[in-house]
Amino acid sequence: MNLPTEVRYRPYADWTDEEKAKIEAHIAASPWRANYHIEPKTGLLNDPNGFSYFNGKFQLFYQNWPFGAAHGLKQWVHTESQDLVHFKETGITLQPDHENDSHGAYSGSAYPIDDKLFIFYTGNVRNQDWVRDPRQIGAWMDKKGHIEKFDDILIKQPADVTEHFRDPQIFDYKGQYYAIIGAQSLDKKGFIKLYKALNNDVHSWQEVGNLDFGGTGSEYMIECPNLVFVDGQPVLLYSPQGLDKSELAYDNIYPNTYKICQTFDINRPALVGASQILNLDYGFEAYATQGFNMPDGRAYCVSWIGLPDVDYPTDQYDYQGAMSLVKELSIKDGKLYQYPVSAMTSLRTNQEAFADKSQTDNCYELDLTFAPDQKTELLLFADQKGHGLKLTIDNDKGKVILDRSQAGVQYATEFGTTRECQLNQTLEARIFVDKSIVEIFINKGEKVFTSRVFPQAGQSGLKVLSGQVSGTYYHLKG
Ligand code: FRU
Repeated sequence: MNLPTEVRYRPYADWTDEEKAKIEAHIAASPWRANYHIEPKTGLLNDPNGFSYFNGKFQLFYQNWPFGAAHGLKQWVHTESQDLVHFKETGITLQPDHENDSHGAYSGSAYPIDDKLFIFYTGNVRNQDWVRDPRQIGAWMDKKGHIEKFDDILIKQPADVTEHFRDPQIFDYKGQYYAIIGAQSLDKKGFIKLYKALNNDVHSWQEVGNLDFGGTGSEYMIECPNLVFVDGQPVLLYSPQGLDKSELAYDNIYPNTYKICQTFDINRPALVGASQILNLDYGFEAYATQGFNMPDGRAYCVSWIGLPDVDYPTDQYDYQGAMSLVKELSIKDGKLYQYPVSAMTSLRTNQEAFADKSQTDNCYELDLTFAPDQKTELLLFADQKGHGLKLTIDNDKGKVILDRSQAGVQYATEFGTTRECQLNQTLEARIFVDKSIVEIFINKGEKVFTSRVFPQAGQSGLKVLSGQVSGTYYHLKG
């Protein structure tokens, strides 16, 4: 939603209780609130931040402007979880209340060091002429959730980078802390800078160089780069803006992409043997995915179900955005898989054999099997007229197609109403529906489609239009 700058950058303390109560009342009127996904308590949710394991719990923050469905003065909002399925908002926030983050506590990461969680993020600072000075800054969070910001700027804007320099991700490689940061060169190409912490002191970062990951620079900015190690292989997850479509076909305003690499050479510095650039997700919205490695090597990631510069039907209720399910990453036969954590099954209540249903409460999981070499068409969010979200598994042509043109309130149609990917045979799919969210995991996560659908009254059925499909329907609790 377009709101004037004065509104979006109004100090938090200036919002009156009355105004806040009005915003809360608007949200409460939404028919689309999710049951088991993280959504903003108020306002806009965007990137996942600080995803980590600390103090015996998973930590996950989200970027938020709390006063409406717009990108304003951002803060981090904290949630925690024991099982990566049930997340609880704790009330802890990282607010834009310091001279180094005066115009927003922008995205970043977190890493447990000794008995504290180190938070590494971008302070968005603007001067009176609205010129941006991006500052990479830090904070400690202790086990009680108390956050203490550093006063020093950890990394200043380097001479070869424009104002677009943000989203530090800290990671440990062979006992040494490194960070990668998304950047734009002076000739407006996206790239990634690599830093190391001298003596592992998070107050002293030294530039190692520009990370060579086989990028072409056809994008004008790289947001939210993160490096995770999956089954020992470096995988770079990133969000390039303006990427040339001849390099990678995509329909969303900006894609969320990845490369699987062979090794990480810190001296060059380079991700050696990087694959071609690939789409992390084939749905209508997934962006700014953040991943991290557990001490035992497991790699988890989570995505923002939303996109920059797109208006959503929920804007009228003063909120926007949701967090995806947590996905575990693995590599099989050289391919990256993303699959919901096994504890997701704890949400299942009653189950029944999959069959057409004239209505549901749009809060369920499907575990389906498809016939090889055949085309199957399935409607979710179906109404009595036979309209809905159409999923076509075309094992004859080797394609999966998701068609949103007949489902729910239409929006962002300038980016097209169908999404598809090539896939020789889809034999299985797990589908999670949560009121206005759908996440489809094909062949145990070989391909993923993440999307919003904003159903209107009566759009909650399930219907097989053609082909052969069988499986289980599980009702899910919130
Ligand atoms: C990505 C992004 C980040 C930035 C944050 C601000 O969606 O633009 O690059 O840090 O959002 O909210």
